Amino acid sequence: MNWYDKAIVYQIYPKSFQDTNDDGIGDLQGVIAHLDYIKNLGFNTIWLNPIFVSPQVDNGYDVSNYFAIDPILGDMDDFTEMMDKAHHLGLHIILDLPINHTSDQHPWFKDAVNNPNSIFKDYYIWHKQVNGHEPNNWGSFFGGSVWEKNPNNSEEYYFHLFDKKMPDLNWKNPEVRKSIADIAKFWIEKGVDGFRLDAFIHIAKANLEQNSLIQDEQFPADDTFYAKLPKVKDYLATFVREIKDFKPDTFLFGEASSANALDAAEYTRPDEDGCDVVVNSGNYGEVYDDSNPDVPGFFQTRRLSLDRLKKTYVTWESVLANISLPTLTWGNHDISRLRDRLNLPIDNEDVSKLLATLMYLQRGMPIIYYGEEIGMHGLKYQQVSDFDDQRAVDLINTLHKKSFKDEEILKLLNNQDEMTARGPMQWDDSQYCGFSNKEPWNWGQTDETNVSAELKDSKSLATFYKNLLSMKKHDCFTNGDYQLLITDPEIYAYLRQTRDNKGIVVTNFSNKVKKFTLPEEKWKKVLANKVKLTNNELILDPWGSCALESKI
Ligand code: GLC
Ligand code: CA
Repeated sequence: MNWYDKAIVYQIYPKSFQDTNDDGIGDLQGVIAHLDYIKNLGFNTIWLNPIFVSPQVDNGYDVSNYFAIDPILGDMDDFTEMMDKAHHLGLHIILDLPINHTSDQHPWFKDAVNNPNSIFKDYYIWHKQVNGHEPNNWGSFFGGSVWEKNPNNSEEYYFHLFDKKMPDLNWKNPEVRKSIADIAKFWIEKGVDGFRLDAFIHIAKANLEQNSLIQDEQFPADDTFYAKLPKVKDYLATFVREIKDFKPDTFLFGEASSANALDAAEYTRPDEDGCDVVVNSGNYGEVYDDSNPDVPGFFQTRRLSLDRLKKTYVTWESVLANISLPTLTWGNHDISRLRDRLNLPIDNEDVSKLLATLMYLQRGMPIIYYGEEIGMHGLKYQQVSDFDDQRAVDLINTLHKKSFKDEEILKLLNNQDEMTARGPMQWDDSQYCGFSNKEPWNWGQTDETNVSAELKDSKSLATFYKNLLSMKKHDCFTNGDYQLLITDPEIYAYLRQTRDNKGIVVTNFSNKVKKFTLPEEKWKKVLANKVKLTNNELILDPWGSCALESKI
């Protein structure tokens, strides 16, 4: 058993958590200021989005110096103070480590571009032009080609899967692999407990001399050539071995937005030097409302399909049983907040309580995005031009061409764009939510929920999360195996069982009253919202949810 087998993770977007020097940007002192809050809610692990020096083209995922803290967030003294205080409270800290690319301002890349004899040239991926064009038609995840011209040699291109200011590293080069491992070791020596390996399934690329056959776009983003290639496992294994030899209980959590359960198994098999867990961004059981074919899938209204959610988790739970822990999450910084993106009666707090109960008591590691515990909505921007992230800009251009009105586009973006999910944490009801005294770097209209009010209220969502996380620590909900119970299609119920303890979770995913007969056993309610238990029968009000336990 490692400490991370019991990790309950709180994700912090540092720029948006708490500003302590009134520049409108959250900082490490702001994280320090709320360690107690995080601990009291029941978390034992914090994952921070990237905090290294960065031009902030992609909010820190574009790193220009891996060995220092970005000055907007603080300095190494703040970092050390944060580590010490977190550890003192029994909190582990995980850093986000972009390993697939650097910033184009990284000294390696600058030298590669400016120095004809640079030893860093081979740290990146280059190709000469083909017939005066890009070497192939592969598309970047951020739009356009993956190729961008070398600023000092117009006949040659470098490869970037994300923004053009984020050139991909060449993992074929052993020096690159060594450099990334050295970065990780540097931070381990500073006390870091683990890393989120950003975009790790992309570190290997196919032979560059081939084209995608996808027809409908000039530069299709075609995963076949740059995701989950066999070499990823080899590179990963060398890295993992080196890190685990250096400090065996370093937690490695691999981020693979497109991974399915089989991929997660493949990258976490014990004895194969893989990640400890894999997190993707697609287990929310959502189905797109295809009523508007002009709108790309990602921006469409979504409906939560309980059926799909059940199938997803039955698959993940069964495929990963005896291999690794599934990750349990409702969102992150790359997707709009749960309350905005779904067409559920989500402003009903019972729905939020139900969603939390059914998700986090499953077998697996909860990863909870800051603000979810108080039911925060995303920011609402006032006009289309307030959106400047690449995906939004592309959408605006596409929909303008199709004669969409600005107000329609604004609604889609406010409900679905990732920037809305990166708003300031709402600590109190003051002008800038207690986040700062200055207008935050990312700002729009907010809702009223805030930590200070939530903590005073014994029936609030935050109090419910606290109770839920304390239940999660019980033997059956941490260690038990998972079994779906076949019931009414609008009920999600499952059993968790260890040698000594049994737990059951029953949730009513509907606006009708439902009855549920428990298996013959002496059950005790340990967590409940809108549920009554008489004899062995549960009466669940609309959106009611509960967890019960019994000794074996
Ligand atoms: C991951 C991050 C995302 C970032 C990308 C490139 O998908 O979650 O925010 O843009 O990697 O680093
Ligand atoms: Ca600040």
